[in-house]
Amino acid sequence: MPSGSTVTVRPARGVRGVVRIPGDKSISHRYAMMAAIADGTSRFHNFSAARDCFSTLGCLRSLGCEWKRSEDGVIEVEGRGRGLGAPAQALDCGNSGSTMRMLSGILAGQHFASEMIGDESLSRRPMARIMTPLSQMGARIEGRDGGRPPLKIHGGSLKAIHYKPEVGSAQVKSCVLFAGLFADGETIVEEPIRTRDHGELALRAFGVEVARSGNIARIRGGQKLNAIEAHVPGDLSSAAFFLCSAALFPDSQLTLPAILMNPTRARLLDILILMGLKISVAQLEEHHGELIGAIEARGGMWKGAVISGADTAALIDEIPVLAATAPYTENGIEISDAKELRVKESDRIAAVATNLRKMGAEVEECPDGLRIPGRQRLHGAELDSFGDHRIAMAFAVAALRAEGETSIHGADAAGVSYPAFFEELEAITN
Ligand code: S3P
Repeated sequence: MPSGSTVTVRPARGVRGVVRIPGDKSISHRYAMMAAIADGTSRFHNFSAARDCFSTLGCLRSLGCEWKRSEDGVIEVEGRGRGLGAPAQALDCGNSGSTMRMLSGILAGQHFASEMIGDESLSRRPMARIMTPLSQMGARIEGRDGGRPPLKIHGGSLKAIHYKPEVGSAQVKSCVLFAGLFADGETIVEEPIRTRDHGELALRAFGVEVARSGNIARIRGGQKLNAIEAHVPGDLSSAAFFLCSAALFPDSQLTLPAILMNPTRARLLDILILMGLKISVAQLEEHHGELIGAIEARGGMWKGAVISGADTAALIDEIPVLAATAPYTENGIEISDAKELRVKESDRIAAVATNLRKMGAEVEECPDGLRIPGRQRLHGAELDSFGDHRIAMAFAVAALRAEGETSIHGADAAGVSYPAFFEELEAITN
């Protein structure tokens, strides 16, 4: 039950019901940004309810792009063509790394200077990963201490580059491809590992040609974007919290209609199936290149998993909830190659370890991951969200199987990606 920013979660006996998950955050950010620089008015059904996506829309408004939310929840964005307007004040990205990193690609191609700011958590996050390629393309971009927000971007004419990022990051890939729209020549991004491809698919949806082979994406500068009407699929990373809740109880039964099934995101389903959750997917459809399906999940065994390498990258946003529920598995969960988790909205490795220990769990924290033995009994505790939406939600799920009540302080952080999360969780638990 919410009380201020502290939420108390009681242990549950089971999970049953239907959850309509709001639109995918990654896709909503990209659609909004593409719509702003397209010709014509775009309309988005089931646009994400996340505070982060409204940070993107807020920045777009400051850049002269008009948008409105109609009574039926549809977001309508009036495209400005490729030229945005110089902002009168700093662009507030709130808690959203996606907003700052991807929008900077578009701002680099605009003939004005802009400043991007963020909250305390975002102000700590590394931005050198986008500053380096954008500088190589010819934008002047300055950050605090070399690579932290606020960012000052002096945009202008850009030149195409062939960029090989050191870290596999879809945000960086999208940033460089978006900047590539404003560059002369062909911009190439060659990634060390395949990351989510919503940027490429969104560009194509708006009529831009993007070539792909293996981990390489190419875009020719100067292309125009045309407005679209789209249905945003339900966010699979938000669905993960409900799927893990279902996995905690052998007789649970959960239906999640119209969820994103994009193969670069759906590794979660394979892992959950391997761990023992019974999952079937029906009504597969494709919208603007994005696959959508209805998930039916039933509890069964809840074994354990070893998550490393490409799996870690593919599951990066789902690791907090997998780790938080790991003590309830049969064999535990081992996670490695997850150094990136330390520079997310919080240090998610430390946050998970701290909260699990407060619940009485045995946890081994490693520089790049966690080892959490299975078959543990946890007790309710006073926990902190560390200002991180995924930590707040992950521990609400872990609390369902603990003995006694758990209080999560700073639980309103959940609104960064899922404002109605606690109400929905309460509705499906008994
Ligand atoms: C995202 C990519 C991931 C992910 C983030 C959203 C995206 O970050 O953690 O929540 O929409 O591209 P990185 O690109 O930094 O890995």
